[in-house]
Amino acid sequence: MRNIDFDKFSEHSLVLRNYAKNFDTQLLEEIENIVKQNDFRHMKTPKGHQMSASMTNCGEYGWVSDKFGYRYEKTDPKTNQPWPKMPEIFRDLARSAADDSGYINFESDACLINRYRPKAAMALHQDKDEHDFTQPIVSISLGISVTFLFGGLTRTEKPVTKELHHGDIVVWGGPDRLRFHGVRPLKNNTHPLVGPLRFNLTLRKAN
Ligand code: SIN
Ligand code: FE2
Repeated sequence: MRNIDFDKFSEHSLVLRNYAKNFDTQLLEEIENIVKQNDFRHMKTPKGHQMSASMTNCGEYGWVSDKFGYRYEKTDPKTNQPWPKMPEIFRDLARSAADDSGYINFESDACLINRYRPKAAMALHQDKDEHDFTQPIVSISLGISVTFLFGGLTRTEKPVTKELHHGDIVVWGGPDRLRFHGVRPLKNNTHPLVGPLRFNLTLRKAN
């Protein structure tokens, strides 16, 4: 059996250390290819605040935020075109990470791609725009490291923190599916392969 190095948040949530490492160049090439079709943009929250991470999507559905709210859309409101196809490696890697975390047969239909530069962050939030909370969230980190915050089911519960590094995958689901989470502002840093950036791929079953 393959030796998997992991770090648990709870019975239902964990970090699979280095899990995506062997696929890093392939994942980065796919991101580059997606971005050629559909560039990153800073979305605004419904209240009009610009998010510090920039985002794009691939897959059947894409997550968007604007003055009309948070939601999944089949077409990009910026281009009125469908989102780029989900690369097989994204879907397969997410499925295998979910399997190895106890969530079998994970079928993702949406992948949000976040790009963080130093100082960018993601405030505590729940992933709750999906229709089926029985499916986990699979979150792949590439590039410079960051402190991940994993809170409770209420915003006020103090989060547990773990450093996420290039190639780590976080999986959460079951009773943890709606736990608040986010990342601290990125520190100034450079990754040998990715440069002064961090990418995060979040795979979900949106519909
Ligand atoms: C997110 O929850 O959308 C992003 C989490 C991360 O960047 O690791
Ligand atoms: Fe999230």
